[in-house]
Amino acid sequence: MCGIVGYTGKELALTPVLEGLRKLEYRGYDSAGIALATTTGHKLWIQKRAGKLGNLEEILGSTIPESHSGIGHTRWATHGGPTDLNAHPHLDNDGKLAVIHNGIIENYLELRLVLEKAGHTFKSETDSESVAHLLSDARKQRKGDLAAAMRDVCRQLRGSFTLLAIHSDDPGRIVGARRNSPLVVGIGDGENFLASDVSAFIAHTKRALELGQDEVADVTGESIVITDLTGKILPHNEFEISWDASAAERGGFEHFMLKEIFEQPKAIADTLLGRIQGLDEEVTKGINLAGIEKVVIVACGTAFHAGLVGKYAIEKWANIAVDVELASEYRYRDPSVDSNTLLIAISQSGETMDTLMAMRYAKERGARVFAVCNTNGSTIPRESDAVLYTRAGPEVAVASTKAFETQLVAMYLIGLHLGRIRGTMSQELIAEIEHELSELPAKVEQILETVEPLRELTRRFNSATSMLFLGRNVGFPTALEGALKLKELAYMHAEGFAGGELKHGPIALIEVGTPVVAIMPAANSLLAEKMASNIQEVKARGAVVIAIADIDLPAADYLVRIPKTHEFLQPVLSVVPLQIIAYEMAIVRGNDVDQPRNLAKSVTVE
Ligand code: G6P
Repeated sequence: MCGIVGYTGKELALTPVLEGLRKLEYRGYDSAGIALATTTGHKLWIQKRAGKLGNLEEILGSTIPESHSGIGHTRWATHGGPTDLNAHPHLDNDGKLAVIHNGIIENYLELRLVLEKAGHTFKSETDSESVAHLLSDARKQRKGDLAAAMRDVCRQLRGSFTLLAIHSDDPGRIVGARRNSPLVVGIGDGENFLASDVSAFIAHTKRALELGQDEVADVTGESIVITDLTGKILPHNEFEISWDASAAERGGFEHFMLKEIFEQPKAIADTLLGRIQGLDEEVTKGINLAGIEKVVIVACGTAFHAGLVGKYAIEKWANIAVDVELASEYRYRDPSVDSNTLLIAISQSGETMDTLMAMRYAKERGARVFAVCNTNGSTIPRESDAVLYTRAGPEVAVASTKAFETQLVAMYLIGLHLGRIRGTMSQELIAEIEHELSELPAKVEQILETVEPLRELTRRFNSATSMLFLGRNVGFPTALEGALKLKELAYMHAEGFAGGELKHGPIALIEVGTPVVAIMPAANSLLAEKMASNIQEVKARGAVVIAIADIDLPAADYLVRIPKTHEFLQPVLSVVPLQIIAYEMAIVRGNDVDQPRNLAKSVTVE
């Protein structure tokens, strides 16, 4: 999703703007651009290019004008292809005002028609360019007051946006606004920053303030004024950033994804810290968990798979019905939801538009809303009654790994908490789960010792065109996650199936040599035998079976041994080899591991 950066202050603006864009690369993008307000010129200095940031840097040249304020953008195309012209910033017809935008302006077509009639000439196919033209007119009407113009324009816009604007006649000022998309201001000393998220400026300052819905920030190097759309001045919602700048660096690993895979034991341990014996009041104070009749989990992508695992644990431990819904489908089918529904929204970024909209839908109908999120102060937790923060730290690779692990842990903690307060778990079971949870970090660590042989094994399947993943019970969502990882990273056909469904169709896909990854249920589970039969069924048709199991399994062609744990907790362990398989397959195929094609880390459009 688009990344947004602004800098105004005592330094030359180019460096912090480019640095900020680098830090936001993880969001995924297909073009980049910057605009600087120069200290001498009457027009803005603007450069933009399709492709990666390197393409933009190549054209910057050595004659960069002196400038102490600027804005930068990485674009993930929605309206109009990823071309130089569609890249942001967009200019007004005077070449004096530049705008960058994240989100979608839903009424852009009608706005564009009116603007074109009034004599504005458009250069791009984007929805965003309309804002530059609108702001230009509004600023003239407001006699040069860019913040007042921004408020006027925001009232005319429908959809979602983070906007930054700069004007060459007032070079030290950047004006930002947001609705349904994030914007944070970094507070420096004689300098200030604006960005989609704090990672763009944590190297410079740990002090930040977040903008609420429909708020406008008028920022210079010396001042920050926040208003609502009527112009009423609002108090600063300041917070201290707890992330360390170095936490977002690669730390010696070849890719962020591998680094993040290795950070999983710590991420799990951090997420469990102080919570195994019960969620504290800090987490639950805003929500009444008594008398709930139904749990609905909404999420997208990998987070959805964490939700599916959560269903098994919560249903069993808390003895309550749990539906898991793809957030993008949920609200459009008018689902039944009321004040006795507990809605759990799972999101790493806290900004996924589909999840946010599903959550709002349920909230409007009285549901009690609980967020599971990795990003402090993001929109989903802000709009929830309560939040359980996963403590995975910044996840940079687009393909989610450590965030998934911590989402699973969050599901278990919620299941355990509900089981306790509903009195539906025996003391023995509670003690067993508590013990097994506390052992997870060390067990994941143990699996990570087998990474090299697993990478070698993966390379044997380099020429495969398709890979299937089989699982039962919680192994089924794990299979879905393994297949999703492989699709995302290796760009190859992969599917996850429930072992019991095999005979109802998928078995027709098996050919001689088809690799099948079988996620074996825990050895003591009732389903272990059934899964062993599924392995025989695919082997009889020529499949090559790679089993992930906690016991020896002679029937498998290759075996990846994982430690034993409680059957519901097993996905935390069994997903690790699947992450490694996808990682290695991407490398073998020469793919961009950390930023796979067409994908974005944070999807802020529906
Ligand atoms: C995008 C990412 C996925 C992620 C999904 C949900 O599609 O590419 O990796 O699982 O969004 O993201 P969230 O931030 O809500 O967990």
